Amino acid sequence: MNLEKTNQIKAAITAVGGYVPDAILSNEDLEKMVDTNDAWITSRTGIKERRILKDKDKATSFLAIEAAHDLISKYNIDPKSIDMVIMATITPDIHVAATAAYVASTIGADNAFAYDLTAACSGFLYGMSTSAAYIGSGRYKKVLLVGADKMSSIVDYTDRETCVIFGDGAGAVLFEPSINKFGWEDEYLRSNGNERMSLRIKAGGSLHPTSKETLENNWHNLFQEGKTVFKYAVSEMAYAAEKIKERNNLKGEEISYLVPHQANKRIIDATANRIGLREDQVLMNIAFYGNTTAATIPLLLNDNESKFKKGDKLVFAAFGGGFTWGAAYLTWAY
Ligand code: UT7
Repeated sequence: MNLEKTNQIKAAITAVGGYVPDAILSNEDLEKMVDTNDAWITSRTGIKERRILKDKDKATSFLAIEAAHDLISKYNIDPKSIDMVIMATITPDIHVAATAAYVASTIGADNAFAYDLTAACSGFLYGMSTSAAYIGSGRYKKVLLVGADKMSSIVDYTDRETCVIFGDGAGAVLFEPSINKFGWEDEYLRSNGNERMSLRIKAGGSLHPTSKETLENNWHNLFQEGKTVFKYAVSEMAYAAEKIKERNNLKGEEISYLVPHQANKRIIDATANRIGLREDQVLMNIAFYGNTTAATIPLLLNDNESKFKKGDKLVFAAFGGGFTWGAAYLTWAY
């Protein structure tokens, strides 16, 4: 479906915020923890360091609340005016109770309803689609979308193939009805559940409830078949971005920025090459944060906000566990 053919209200991003914890886990630090080295990590992933939330009593909600506060204070938003809070995360504070509800209450969004959305590294991309649809239907006027993950809480720091990739962080954006012609333009979203075991936490759910066996087998940590994920990510992220480019008649030089999920610099480069972009058109902060899962895209927006001009054409692309993936096109509204 091409969104330009529908008659919905256009949803625009009108504010952004972000937060990463202070503590840095560098490649050199990891060399002391597993059999790896800075040269391998840098050349295979593009990552130099990541941020880690060290406080044992702080969870993903802490990251999300900080990011939301950053947005609210920068743009002077009254939290009571927020209609809903959607939180993309795979590391909720606790099971059953949505972390988004706690975040909404803590920031004073007393008139909002809130829920979590789970689509791993595509969570924020899917969340943007959901937010844009709620605004587009006319039902709500202010949707706060937060992407936050405390990946350090599920990473096995003895698994060198996985632990070098992930970091902690959070980002937030506000969606409102567009007051100019700019905003959410198009999306191409897909999933393939047949590959769910390629990137997973095996236990703790209804398939393998927590037991002595699941604990002994280390099934509560994140595990990925790196090569399989890489292969799918390269082809599907690039295909989705190309599809978005083609059906919106975008020429390479017309795209202001590619805003890609930050999983591996080689995946990002492959996507950018496929749609014919120069290096300066590709936003990247993977070197400093690694893969923060649902937070990569809003952190990119927050870090680069000062560069954006009204009408800039942004193409988003993501790939993650599920598998879930897709691309989207948004024109910057301010
Ligand atoms: O957002 C979605 C989440 N995940 C992803 O997108 C991850 C996608 N996958 C990847 O990014 C890459 O597959 C990895 C970074 C995980 C691995 O890179 P790779 O180029 O696919 O490496 P590989 O698995 O082909 O391994 C190459 C070699 C192996 O050694 P041998 O068998 O050739 O002797 C690995 O054992 O590199 C070795 N290796 C390492 N060496 C040093 C694997 N991890 C490491 C490490 N340090 N951390």
